[in-house]
This record gives sequence, structure tokens and C-alpha cells, in this order.
Amino acid sequence: CAAQAADSDMAERSALNAILKRGELRVGLDAGYMPFEMRDKKGDIIGFDIDLARLMARYMGVKLTIVNTQWDGIIPALLTDKFDVLMGGMTITPERNLKVNFCDPYVLIGQTILLRPGLKDTIKSYRDLNDPRYTISSKLGTTGDIAARRYLPKAKLKQYESESEGAMEVRSGRVDGFVYDLPFNAVYVAQNPDKVIHLKEPFTQEALGWAVRKGDPDMLNWLNNFLAQSKRDGTYDALYKKWFEG
Ligand code: ARG
Repeated sequence: CAAQAADSDMAERSALNAILKRGELRVGLDAGYMPFEMRDKKGDIIGFDIDLARLMARYMGVKLTIVNTQWDGIIPALLTDKFDVLMGGMTITPERNLKVNFCDPYVLIGQTILLRPGLKDTIKSYRDLNDPRYTISSKLGTTGDIAARRYLPKAKLKQYESESEGAMEVRSGRVDGFVYDLPFNAVYVAQNPDKVIHLKEPFTQEALGWAVRKGDPDMLNWLNNFLAQSKRDGTYDALYKKWFEG
């Protein structure tokens, strides 16, 4: 019947089907977002997302290809089929959700501040930075960027292409505070003790999720069940410990 034909058409067009035919899972992300995806000393991309992606590919029985993509073009790249799933620690927002489908949340985070050490006694909370005397930084097109505008509208805002540049500006004292996701800031302060101060009380609540193209229930179902099972069998916890508490 017509409904059955439409169902099998949809299965045929699923990214899942294309992956299996191709023998390759292509994962899109933007390296530099510690500890989800970053470069090691050899220049290889490693991190929490990479380990999960490797596991996905193994279950699918295909090889894994990482497609490193600039953050501001990452949704268009998914929509134009440059890769099959977006795993960049993307916050699920209503605006983004108009363009893509999100899997169930895999990590909960919030925005925090990396502070220039000279301000240790002056700035006790992110709110204290909401003053034209202060300059803050974030990464272009991220929820850090959005939070900076929303919660610190009076501060001067400088946007950077990468999170490392934005944080570096605080380290070098050119900027007073860097607004970004808690996990990144926690790793950064651990790597740069005394160079920056972490105001680690999150002031937003955000859920991160993998994104796929709309109209692809097969792909979404596979990924959600992969995530749920990796949580049940302890794989997720082991990887979380390795990258977030290690
Ligand atoms: N969670 C933030 C957002 O969705 C930042 C994610 C940055 N990810 C990356 N791979 N650089 O805007």
C-alpha cells in the first residue's frame, strides 16, 4: 500500500542507510572544544565525542571519518550532507531545533566565566562584569556569545573564531572575562593554573545533543538507543570519567 511504500522510501533515504552502503560514518565537529574534541600533541583529534563516535562506527560495522568544520558553518554543513551526524557538544536551542533534529541530551552544562586574576577581589560573580568598564570575550555563534549578550549587555563584547583565542585574551590580560561552557573552562583552568580564575558556578542551564537532519527517524532512533545502551552498560560512565574527571 501507499503508506508502506512511503515508509520504505524514508528508510531508503535515511542517513543510516547511506552510511551502511558507503561503509563509512562521517561525524562533523569543531575541534578545540575541550574535552569533547581537541588536538593532541601529534595533531590528532581526540576527546569524549571521538571515543563515542568510534564506538558508533564499530557497532555500525563501518569506518569512521571525522569532518572538522568551522562552528559558524556547522549546521549548513550538516544540511548539505558534508557529514552524517553533528557531534560538537552543541547546545539544544529552540532556534537550532527549527533547522535540525537533536538526539536526547548527552551532557548537561552551563555558562561560566574565566576571569583575569587581577580582578580576583573585585569580581565575585558573573553579574559584576555587567559594566561598561569591562571587556568580555566568547566564541562567535555559540551559546556563550548569546549568554554574554543576554546577561552582560553592558560589558564590551569581543568575539573570537576559536575558544582558545577567546580564553587566551583573558590569560594575556587583554580581556577581563571569557564566557563559555563549563567543561571547556574547567579544563582550561586546570591547564593554566594561576593564569586565569574560574568562576565555576554556571549561570545558564543547557543540554548538549547530537544533531541530524530533519525527517530522518531511523538515524535519530539508532543514535538515541546507542546513547541509552551506552549509559546502561557503563560505557558512557567510563568515558565520562576518562575525559571529565581524569
Ligand atoms: N555548547 C556551545 C554551543 O552550542 C558551544 C559548543 C562548541 N562546540 C565546538 N565543537 N566548538 O553553542
